[in-house]
Amino acid sequence: MKITIINGPNLNLLGTRETDIYGSQYFQSNIEGEIINLIHKSKDCDGIILNAAAYTHTSVGIADAVKSIDCKVIEVHISNTYSREEFRHNSFLSPVVDGIIIGFGLDSYRLALESIIN
Ligand code: DQA
Repeated sequence: MKITIINGPNLNLLGTRETDIYGSQYFQSNIEGEIINLIHKSKDCDGIILNAAAYTHTSVGIADAVKSIDCKVIEVHISNTYSREEFRHNSFLSPVVDGIIIGFGLDSYRLALESIIN
């Protein structure tokens, strides 16, 4: 199976940034255009696990990229975005993805993975 895990801006700082919210492990991160390119390149994958981070709340471009491919896309968030600031309550991605997993810490990624492989 081919599964792409995409992490958005600032997630490379996991472990140093707000460790009470994000935990101490960290993942790679990308800029907006690179995320869009990677989504295009992953169109033949079995699934994409997408934590677009702050772009979740701002990016029509990433939402359009998700809409342009047939591959299953799961939106994930480490923190419960609905328990945080109001601007984090809107996601441009949620209406266009296949499923959403929010607020289980880094376990959100494992749950997304299970939803793709099962
Ligand atoms: C996040 C939630 C976003 O609101 C925030 O901008 C992030 C991380 C999360 O995984 O909890 O950078 O996507």
